[in-house]
Amino acid sequence: MSNRLMPANFVRWSALCLLACALLAPAASAQAPAIAPAQAVTAEHGMVVAQEAIAARIGVETLQKGGNAVDAAVATGFAMAVTYPRAGNIGGGGFMVIHRAGGEDITIDYRETAPAAINAKSFLDAQGNADPQKSRNSALAIGVPGTVAGLALAEEKYGSGKFTLAQLMAPAIALARDGFTLADDTADALPHDWPKLQRWPSSVKVFGKADGTPLAEGDKLVQPDLAETLAAIAKDGPRAFYQGPVADKIAAAVQAAGGVMTADDLKNYHAVERVPIRGTYRGYHIVSMPPPSSGGIALVEMLNILEGYDLAHEPRAQELYLMTEAMKRAYADRAWFLGDPDVVKIPIPRLTSKGYAAEWRASINPAHATAADDIRAGGEVREEGHNTTHFSIIDQFGNAVANTYTLNFSFGVGLVADGAGILLNNELDDFAAKANSPNAYGLLGDEANAPGPGKRPLSSMTPTIVLKDGKPFLITGSPGGSLIINAVLQVVTNVIDRGMDIASAVSAPRVHNQWKPDIVFAETGIADDIVATLQARGDTVMVRPLPTSANSILSTPAGFIGAADPRTRGALAAGY
Ligand code: GLY
Repeated sequence: MSNRLMPANFVRWSALCLLACALLAPAASAQAPAIAPAQAVTAEHGMVVAQEAIAARIGVETLQKGGNAVDAAVATGFAMAVTYPRAGNIGGGGFMVIHRAGGEDITIDYRETAPAAINAKSFLDAQGNADPQKSRNSALAIGVPGTVAGLALAEEKYGSGKFTLAQLMAPAIALARDGFTLADDTADALPHDWPKLQRWPSSVKVFGKADGTPLAEGDKLVQPDLAETLAAIAKDGPRAFYQGPVADKIAAAVQAAGGVMTADDLKNYHAVERVPIRGTYRGYHIVSMPPPSSGGIALVEMLNILEGYDLAHEPRAQELYLMTEAMKRAYADRAWFLGDPDVVKIPIPRLTSKGYAAEWRASINPAHATAADDIRAGGEVREEGHNTTHFSIIDQFGNAVANTYTLNFSFGVGLVADGAGILLNNELDDFAAKANSPNAYGLLGDEANAPGPGKRPLSSMTPTIVLKDGKPFLITGSPGGSLIINAVLQVVTNVIDRGMDIASAVSAPRVHNQWKPDIVFAETGIADDIVATLQARGDTVMVRPLPTSANSILSTPAGFIGAADPRTRGALAAGY
């Protein structure tokens, strides 16, 4: 490992190993109930697997009318902004990976940007320390939303041309205008997030009852302002969101709440096509999201490291141990190198090369865990699984879409822009507010991911398409903050190395390590012998839920097989 590319703290890891080992805590019991198996759904012509059933069906109907996977993604994406308000959105941002039937791979970056008035000190307190109140709970945290620009760009360039944007948005507009019955998942989330939403009358107006309590399961959610905003976009295109009355209402709402976003920030927003991250794994081709997401680089880096082991013939416990060692190294690189590619230079070819992986592999001891340097210095990983949402789509023509988008926290910052009906994000917490101060997911970052005007904060979203013989084989991705990349890794390896069917690959309990804190998180329900092996290797193991939701599709000779992740209620795999 050359010094130039060595993560700064790497040299101290082995020296600190004894200290790390001395501090190991016993693992909690792994006797909790196993995750319910996912239901596999087979379809011949096309399939959508999404976190919310109404929106998933809208996507399938679009496919049935002759639409392609991008048309269905746009219809589903706008519908979820109405039917899944905790993460579906037009007030946040995300990433879309497209494989086109002709062989082309596309990635669309519609990540939020920081307003022009944000700088490296924006999220610090008077003492110069990172201030989570500012970066997570205040209107300062709101990034310029990218979803409308991203979905419109996808449709304009890669839709089938059989539909107008207005036609694809019509179901979303009707659902917002006429309302729909609130399902259990959103209803269950509302009381938890109510203190946050309650801070603003505009949010209570949308999600509350007349008595000021949150809507409950079975209540009707009607969003007339959102319907008008969507109708304006349908009529005049995405610029109706970024300029004019809607943009003015968003900027006014953010500023009234103490934020700094201006109408100019909205006017200057653009979704960007990026060069996909590519890798190979045991003959399969990986296509995933480049920076400002860390997902693709970290995924390919870990797969490259793991390719050097015969995972299929390792005992499951040893397989997962080797995986956690790869995770530590990839997340350390994430913290050190990655940020907005328009601002920082990232050594992507090196980080995703087989040679670099071989160097990392050489540092892995198959019998003894490598410790990250500062035990628990990064803080705990939060249980934040459902604040982002992923859907996978495949069509009859050979096109596929993997799309992950988010408001960051569940219901974002909790502010509905008055008059526009748009729930706004708190995405700017994904910056490193200060070098080596953890964000809400316990992730560390450095200068590369410092806040700055117009910058895109680093993400973990990992929408991914695995190709076999040039055709979509596996379409996957997940919510879950820092858990996302490792969830995707394990779906991919469960299918390719273990030969699992997609339902089993999605359901199997997972492990997670993100370099710091120096803890292996083992998912509730994981077998005791796996925990014991990880402990025997010297890892601190914590058994706990790992809330992710890897809604995935596998293309097989028997048809498309979809699996909605059973960890989260409400998801649906549907096809025709
Ligand atoms: N907001 C979580 C992520 O983008 O990774």
